[in-house]
Amino acid sequence: MVSRRCRIAVFFLVMFLAASNARKIKQYKPCKELVLYFHDVIYNGNNKDNATSAIVAAPQEANLTILAGHFHFGNIAVFDDPITLDNNFYSKPVGRAQGMYMYDSKKTFTAWLGFSFLLNSTHHQGSINFIGADPIMVKTRDISVVSGTGDFFMHRGIATIMTDAYESEVYFRLRVDIKFYECW
Ligand SMILES: *[C@@H]1O[C@H](CO)[C@@H](O)[C@H](O)[C@H]1NC(C)=O
Ligand SMILES: *[C@@H]1O[C@H](CO)[C@@H](O)[C@H](O)[C@H]1NC(C)=O
Ligand SMILES: *[C@@H]1O[C@H](CO)[C@@H](O)[C@H](O)[C@H]1NC(C)=O
Repeated sequence: MVSRRCRIAVFFLVMFLAASNARKIKQYKPCKELVLYFHDVIYNGNNKDNATSAIVAAPQEANLTILAGHFHFGNIAVFDDPITLDNNFYSKPVGRAQGMYMYDSKKTFTAWLGFSFLLNSTHHQGSINFIGADPIMVKTRDISVVSGTGDFFMHRGIATIMTDAYESEVYFRLRVDIKFYECW
């Protein structure tokens, strides 16, 4: 009898573990998703009025007009870029992407990103804060969505970044696929 009770207890323990595991897997489904684009026009000496991004640091042998050699290692750029709902540079912006990227490898194109989305539209009000490594040559890169304010109060998740366009070191457009796994 004891061994039978024991077996029943083990059965329920296994069921409980399976159920709690299932709950854990379910948490990987995003509670909110958002796809946005931002457009970075880098100052190159001739586009003072149009540029939304400036090189603010450069290694010894380089200057603040042209990105440095060695995969731009040592360059830091600060940006204030328009965010749009689609991939059209001329679409009405729904907010600004503000922050910086710094090139941090001599071996390949890779950057470290730290920026915020400041959204101000009829759909979204609030900010979303991002940080993470951006290995630019990889098709999709995941960075952390650290937190947010307003509509995104205490939200956390992952953003998948794709280079949607790249034009001769003057313009790039990133598609940002934001998946929140924690919503409030
Ligand atoms: C900046 O450096 C590039 C080469 O790295 C050079 O072609 C350019 O003339 C420099 N510009 C200025 C303003 O010094
Ligand atoms: C948000 O947009 C409204 C309407 O366009 C504008 O009046 C307001 O100043 C904007 N707020 C910020 C913080 O940019
Ligand atoms: C500003 O830059 C974008 C992207 O390179 C380009 O499409 C657009 O024609 C430029 N606008 C002006 C006024 O130069």
